[in-house]
Amino acid sequence: MGSIGIMTCGGDCPGLNAAIRGAVFRASERGTSVVGILDGFEGLAQDRTIELTRGNTWDILGRGGSILGCSGENPFRDDQAAADAAVDTFKKHDLDGVIVVGGNSSMSTALRAEERGIPIVGVPKTIDNDVEGTDITIGFDTAVQTATEAIDRLRTTAESHDRVMIIETMGRDFGWIAVAAGIAGGADFVLTPEEPVDVADVAKSVKSRQEKGFEFAIIVIGEGAKFKGEDKQYGERPPGDRYMHLSGVGKELADRLEQIEPLRWKLTVTVIGHLQRGGPPTSTDRILASRFGLRAVDAMLDGKHGNMVAVRGGRITLTPLTEVAGKLKAVDKELLDDVRTFAATI
Ligand code: F6P
Repeated sequence: MGSIGIMTCGGDCPGLNAAIRGAVFRASERGTSVVGILDGFEGLAQDRTIELTRGNTWDILGRGGSILGCSGENPFRDDQAAADAAVDTFKKHDLDGVIVVGGNSSMSTALRAEERGIPIVGVPKTIDNDVEGTDITIGFDTAVQTATEAIDRLRTTAESHDRVMIIETMGRDFGWIAVAAGIAGGADFVLTPEEPVDVADVAKSVKSRQEKGFEFAIIVIGEGAKFKGEDKQYGERPPGDRYMHLSGVGKELADRLEQIEPLRWKLTVTVIGHLQRGGPPTSTDRILASRFGLRAVDAMLDGKHGNMVAVRGGRITLTPLTEVAGKLKAVDKELLDDVRTFAATI
């Protein structure tokens, strides 16, 4: 009986457990056992694993987070000893390969591991939906659902109190959640990292909305957005952390709008934040993640490692890790144009 490993890397998202369960069920059907590697590549380097069976995964389908824990640590970056330790763990457990459920930087780490002789199949996940080589990632649908519900709720209070509601969504590099939830929630303005934010323009549009007799406005802004002519992102980088934790561009937009010309309406900022990453997955994410889990096992057992399972044109397929690593997927131009149309009608 063969054995494969599975790990969940980077920031968590709804649907990770469904993917784990899908992999375990398919592996058991094909006579292969599954070793769960705790906390991503960090757990591989430290040999922290658990046995996964139908018995301990059958009821995790609708649970948020990951029963394996998540970490974005990368032993293959520049720590030779950690990289060797990861390879040793792989050999010690006599694994046929490792399924890496991760976002774009985890897919780069996965490619490094593949190059070090660990057969890898990637599974794309992130609420940000910015993994190259797939139309959609696990977690995105749930995050959009959460953000849309937030907009719906904020709209009614904005309406009652004549307010400009600024709603900051997640999306480190691109505005997938802002755009999708902006359309679904009927936002009046959607500002994303794809296009520099022109505050004067936003102020003008809000004023024109007032002049046309509207009593409120909904502005959705992606956390990674930058202001025109500037290269700054808003957030904090605690000492020792490798990257910045984004948040604050919504508040900055509010401050700048107030400075340009006080608007008649009160400005309120809501950062939806990690609510978008937590909680149970939608049915769409459960189905996607379950099927990705199955297909990842098939790819591994059929010798098609070095690939990431993906959805392209509505079908599940494989994309080579070499085409995914080191890249990011921006929001389609067509989708951005569609959002503009809705904002322009105001
Ligand atoms: O997983 C991606 C993401 O949700 C980004 O949208 C966001 O910037 C980041 O994770 C937040 O992670 P952290 O809590 O580590 O700052």
